[in-house]
Amino acid sequence: MLLILADLLSPQELQTARQLLRSARWDDGKDSAGTQARQAKNNQQLPRDSEAGRRIAAMVLAALERSALFLTATLPKRVFPPRVNRYGGEHNHYGDHVDSAVRQLADRHDRLRTDISCTVFLSPPDEYDGGELCIDDTFGPQRVKLPAGHAVIYPGTSVHQVRPVTRGYRMACFFWVESLVRSAEQRRLLYDMDMALLRLRQQHGESPETVALTGSYHNLLRMWADT
Ligand code: NI
Repeated sequence: MLLILADLLSPQELQTARQLLRSARWDDGKDSAGTQARQAKNNQQLPRDSEAGRRIAAMVLAALERSALFLTATLPKRVFPPRVNRYGGEHNHYGDHVDSAVRQLADRHDRLRTDISCTVFLSPPDEYDGGELCIDDTFGPQRVKLPAGHAVIYPGTSVHQVRPVTRGYRMACFFWVESLVRSAEQRRLLYDMDMALLRLRQQHGESPETVALTGSYHNLLRMWADT
């Protein structure tokens, strides 16, 4: 499932992030890629321990917590600490690759399975040419280039690339989610059910039927969730 989270960041948060990025120092992005991905990757990233990187990561995590759409679509168990990258100049693209299935969490002796990938766009699309996130999956090839503050989530299993940026700079925040529900098929069913319940409640209010269906939702989640 590919889903857009419109206005994940507020205008104020976006402004703060962009201010932090104005004086940021960038490292080569190859440090966090696996062997195959390293050959395709040519971008820059904020160092993990930088002030700007830490503050933007905290801001994005807080925004995810208040996004009902993010929570119902991903059913997050754990979120990889968000990183910030930049495409432009000599470091302007990331060719076709699949993200590593398992990632080490930097400061913990712990690992995370990358069920879902997420990109939060930090640069307005009129500031750069190219830079589309192209995702190839069962839903057919998709080209994603969103307003600043919007995010996209897509399956971690997808082959994807970032097209060369030929003018300006494209900055974004990226991270992965390990879901309580490992199967994309089961996650999709729960998402559809939750959204239908939301609309039912909006149209008709609470009823014995919505209570019963909400019970079924939670019982399916109980059956499938791995906490
Ligand atoms: Ni990737």
